[in-house]
Amino acid sequence: MARNRYDMDEILEESFDIKQLKRLAHYISPSKKRMAGVIFLMLTASALGMVVPIFIQRMMDIYIPNKDMHKIFLVSGLTLCIACYSALSLRLKVKNMSVIGQDIIHAIRSDIFCHLQELPFSYYDDRPHGKIQVRVVNYVNSLSDLLSNGIVNTITDLCNLFFILIFMFVCDVKLTLLCLCGLPVLAVVIVFIKRRQRRAWQIQSNKQSNLNAYIAESINGIRVTQSFVREEVNMGIFNKLSGGFRSAWMKAVVYNFTLGPSVELISAVTTAFIYVLGIRWILDPNLPLTVGTLILFTSYISRFWTPINTLASFYNSLLTAISYLERIFETIDEPVNVKDAPGATEMPPIHGDVTFENVCFSYEEGHPILKNINFKMKQGETYAIVGPTGAGKSTIVNLVSRFYNVDSGTIYIDGVDISKVTIHSLRSQMGVMMQDSFIFAGTIMDNIRYGNREATDEQVVEAAKIVCAHDFISQMEDGYYTQVNERGSGLSAGQRQLISFARALLADPKILILDEATSSIDTETELLLQKGLNRLLEGRTSFVIAHRLSTIQNADCILYVDKGDILERGNHKELLALRGEYYKLYISQFDFLKGEIG
Ligand SMILES: Nc1ncnc2c1ncn2[C@@H]1O[C@H](COP(=O)(O)OP(=O)(O)OP(=O)(O)O)[C@@H](O)[C@H]1O
Ligand SMILES: [Mg+2]
Repeated sequence: MARNRYDMDEILEESFDIKQLKRLAHYISPSKKRMAGVIFLMLTASALGMVVPIFIQRMMDIYIPNKDMHKIFLVSGLTLCIACYSALSLRLKVKNMSVIGQDIIHAIRSDIFCHLQELPFSYYDDRPHGKIQVRVVNYVNSLSDLLSNGIVNTITDLCNLFFILIFMFVCDVKLTLLCLCGLPVLAVVIVFIKRRQRRAWQIQSNKQSNLNAYIAESINGIRVTQSFVREEVNMGIFNKLSGGFRSAWMKAVVYNFTLGPSVELISAVTTAFIYVLGIRWILDPNLPLTVGTLILFTSYISRFWTPINTLASFYNSLLTAISYLERIFETIDEPVNVKDAPGATEMPPIHGDVTFENVCFSYEEGHPILKNINFKMKQGETYAIVGPTGAGKSTIVNLVSRFYNVDSGTIYIDGVDISKVTIHSLRSQMGVMMQDSFIFAGTIMDNIRYGNREATDEQVVEAAKIVCAHDFISQMEDGYYTQVNERGSGLSAGQRQLISFARALLADPKILILDEATSSIDTETELLLQKGLNRLLEGRTSFVIAHRLSTIQNADCILYVDKGDILERGNHKELLALRGEYYKLYISQFDFLKGEIG
């Protein structure tokens, strides 16, 4: 798949799959009872409300002319009780629907987040992270209105319409038929705007996603932006994206604004007609229409158009929500292509023999990165991987943890094909320190304990001591309880590496992977660290990737990788004797150091 960027729209689905709405119903289902209660309240309130116009008609036509005070008081009291019941049911509706709406949103958001936790690296490689965030936060939030009010309002409004129509027909058939003449006009308006409206909301959600992606990228890259004084250029890009979002939004809401006023207009025209006709009929002594009946009927007309108006606005929010639902379910449905194979077994306790057998791999189809990689490590050995930038070193170790699936070939650990075991049982026995050491928001203690939550404070301190992190941590104001921010601001790059190093060790891995673990650490600390590590690495299989060759001279075997191929292999002495690529690299670093010393 081509990589998506902040200035690239995502593909729009041509037609809406009705199954998406059925899936939404699945989220609503646990709140069925509460929703039924709310609908009951709304229906009873509306049915009772329907009686009020009859009271008014009776008052006008019978009780007031007859000065029947007893009935006047009785009817007024009943009207007051109905008003109180309506107010109470409205309050309960608002409260309960907020609970239902938020429960559903929480369930959808949990499903997306849970799925995001499982999606492989390749998913995150392919799109800006801002576009993922917008789905979890903004799109899900946008469903809130539809879920909190829309569904119950729609059900109650449909029932209301049904009741009102019965009352209207009972009251006057001809006037009711006249009133219904407005509906086909409304249907024509809906048919006319439907496709355009859906497309407009899809485009709007795309523009929102692009804008979000750019904002997230800009925040992550703010240091580079400021150091290269790119603020103005970035503002230009932002304004363009924000402007695109704004105009897409304006185009989309224009359609939403079409429906409401159309309902208003149609209702005003039909009501006017009914008044004109009604008054003529009242004046005609041959027709039985009374003033009270006309007032009764016109009050039903306004009640008839109110639910139609809310149904129209529900229709608007439905179309808006559909454009978000498509993206939400697309994320939930994203296949997890690095997952346990059917019938996968638990990885037995790892001893540490690792074998790569004819392993080929590519991140993108047609662009091979690793070409037929073969090597055999024995338990407890340290393999160093060296080579130029972009050679494929990190890629090799990423495959050991099965962060990606190999294209062909097999990786065995202790003779077990790693694609046949569960990912959890495999990764939980490995300690990985990635090239870009990530620090999470929280204390330093939490960060080191990240991969082994059962570890005691003493074990955390012990791991920190081994990687020479203890000194700088204890010098901090709150020691191990110092709060660090996401990405580790407040720490130097070397300190971040040491913390990640301690984290990898604390997981008590059987296989340890250190990708440029010491690149930002001063040579003195590195020498100290090496001593502690040598003790610790005894009996553990480890991969060490390093550009600084001083780090890896003691490795049991060094693989020199270039362009996805192992060009040379052997220990330090053997490779120097070979006088090949490794030798050249060693000499260049040695010459550089000599030059530095003078
Ligand atoms: N997520 C990715 N998607 C696509 N291509 C990638 C990805 N990661 C790396 N590559 C490509 O794969 C090749 C090998 O990358 P890799 O990260 O393994 O290099 P490396 O040897 O670790 O380099 P360095 O020493 O700079 O860390 C590079 O050409 C790189 O462009
Ligand atoms: Mg790398």
